[in-house]
Amino acid sequence: MDSLVVEGGQILKGKVEVPPAKNAALPLLCLSLLTAEKVSFESLPDVADIQSMQKMLEHLGVEKLDKNLFQCKTIKSVQAPYEWVRKMRASILVLGPLLARAGRAEVSMPGGCAIGERPVGIHLDGLRAMGATINLENGYIQAECKKLRGTKFVLDFPTVTGTINLVTAAALAEGESLLENVACEPEVVEIVQALRQMGAKISGEGTSQIKITGVPKLNGLKWQIQPDRIQLLTYLAAGALTGGEVECTPYRQGTLNAVVQKFRELGCEMIETSESLRLKAPQRLKSIHLETAPFPGFPTDGQAQFMACTTLAAGSSTIRELVFENRFQHVAELRRMGAKIEVDGNTAVISGVDHLSGASVMASDLRASASLVLAGLSAHGKTKVLRVYHLDRGYEMLEAKLRKLGAKITREKE
Ligand code: EPZ
Repeated sequence: MDSLVVEGGQILKGKVEVPPAKNAALPLLCLSLLTAEKVSFESLPDVADIQSMQKMLEHLGVEKLDKNLFQCKTIKSVQAPYEWVRKMRASILVLGPLLARAGRAEVSMPGGCAIGERPVGIHLDGLRAMGATINLENGYIQAECKKLRGTKFVLDFPTVTGTINLVTAAALAEGESLLENVACEPEVVEIVQALRQMGAKISGEGTSQIKITGVPKLNGLKWQIQPDRIQLLTYLAAGALTGGEVECTPYRQGTLNAVVQKFRELGCEMIETSESLRLKAPQRLKSIHLETAPFPGFPTDGQAQFMACTTLAAGSSTIRELVFENRFQHVAELRRMGAKIEVDGNTAVISGVDHLSGASVMASDLRASASLVLAGLSAHGKTKVLRVYHLDRGYEMLEAKLRKLGAKITREKE
């Protein structure tokens, strides 16, 4: 398992090219199951989860005709096996499309992960409301329905992948669907827009209600994926933490308003243009209060990165993680670097220190790993982040991009 070794103390300055969004690319790839026509993307993020999803889709019958060109003429299998799903929970995203296209799906229950139990009950209840018979046997979701029918359904929570599963299923169902309390994340908005290009009759994206009138079949797709706003905020945080100045491009205005506001509260100057987002760090960061929430609130996927920033901020900061039940895995590792953090349930209180000290630390999940690299960039001495396969799932060439900003960071292959 690879490690990243960071020599702290460099002030990061420069421009970062942001890759396409992993959390948009994953569901967009699954749209290839919904049509017998070609589906192509201008580019795909070069991260491990995208490789895994392509492997899963090939197993189901999606042929890879070229680098970013796919076609599923017929479904070859309706089974998403445990050995793959346990490695990538996002495999649950094949459930809606398989049921809609083939009338059957056998998807392993994703199980929990480091950040929480990650249930999928809302996905299943919504599909049942569309007429699917769903049983849980031997750890698998056995779903069946000759023809899904439109329905009214209110989601208990605006789950991102749950919304996507239900929207993709409803697109080919018979009749009208009204889905309420849906997720409004930019990645969900993008899926709806892509479905519309494929011929779906769908509206309401970005609001809490999405209306769909099912169609008998969908056409192909030719799509440019939005930039990865979470990778983007991670590079800006690297600038904030090291007293530097970082510009990220491309950037979609309106996708990170809560994050821009929190960077400003940290004392950073933020400059937005139609194409880029630039951050100028203050001499010393200020303490903040932060709560994660569904979009347009502060994204839970940025919580760990901002906690790394607050470890050095003047005064006491509080961070409340209100989306996942166990997303403070990075706290113990940051403490090993000298951070002063007290945790009580879903609230962390961080007392800023003058500096962190380099140490060997353990990555646990994708975003926690990023926060440890960030902490290492500003720490005195050397930090070794172990098990960076977590990072490789969602960050494209992280060390190369950080080196381009002036960081001293190398990968040690185990
Ligand atoms: C998506 O996960 C993202 N993953 C996550 O990014 C992100 O953190 C999350 O949305 C929230 O924004 C992908 O898009 C592939 P949820 P998802 O369903 O859809 C509860 C990353 O780092 N819930 O919105 O699985 C659940 O317990 C990853 O890139 C139910 O109760 O997240 C959780 O508390 C991590 N029942 C909350 O909703 C359900 O049926 C949010 O989960 C479904 C979810």
